[in-house]
Amino acid sequence: MNYNYLLKSDELILPWPILQKSLDFIPNKCNLKLLEVGAGSGKKTIPIAKEFQEIYIIEPEKHLIDKFEELCIKYKCNNIILINKTFNDYIDNLKNYNKKFDVILFQYTIHFLDMKTILDKIKSIINPNGYVIIIHPKAIPKNWGNPVLNKDSEKFDKKIWSKHKKHLLKYKKLIINSEYFIKKYSGPIARSYILSL
Ligand SMILES: C[S@@+](CC[C@H](N)C(=O)[O-])C[C@H]1O[C@@H](n2cnc3c(N)ncnc32)[C@H](O)[C@@H]1O
Repeated sequence: MNYNYLLKSDELILPWPILQKSLDFIPNKCNLKLLEVGAGSGKKTIPIAKEFQEIYIIEPEKHLIDKFEELCIKYKCNNIILINKTFNDYIDNLKNYNKKFDVILFQYTIHFLDMKTILDKIKSIINPNGYVIIIHPKAIPKNWGNPVLNKDSEKFDKKIWSKHKKHLLKYKKLIINSEYFIKKYSGPIARSYILSL
């Protein structure tokens, strides 16, 4: 995959409202551990780092992890731990990384992953009452991201939802921030939606 848009500059993506709106649902973040899956070079993660106690990053692309590390130094972020693995590799080696998280975040990443495996496996690494956040909105700014993904987003979200609804609904606190979910299950676009059982 070509992720040049994540490497182009050292500029952080700030603010990133759809993430901020999702995080607004979560109280006392300064005591919580966040795991972000597929965070790229961290341009959206570094701006929220201070809100959490600790952030773990799983990112399989070495050049993105290297850039992430460089940005952590530049922006003086010392609560981020970088793990250069795919999500599956990480989960399959849990013995080595025996940690539980309070918040697990996927931003524009779920299309790379097998949702069923993930939603099943995630249970072993999330604390009781933990939050899962899935962000996959249609509105990707034009100057970065992949226009094909942009165009197909609604169809994709619909497919994910109908295929994985059963698993998704198992989570007590699931924040899905995606135009399709929001349009279908909630009020105005750009509002986060929480499913709570
Ligand atoms: C479209 S980019 C999104 C990056 C970042 N989350 C953002 O919103 O800017 C998708 C990211 O998912 C990562 N990724 C792809 N397959 C993955 C996997 N199996 N496990 C974890 N991350 C993966 C890619 O390396 C890339 O950084």
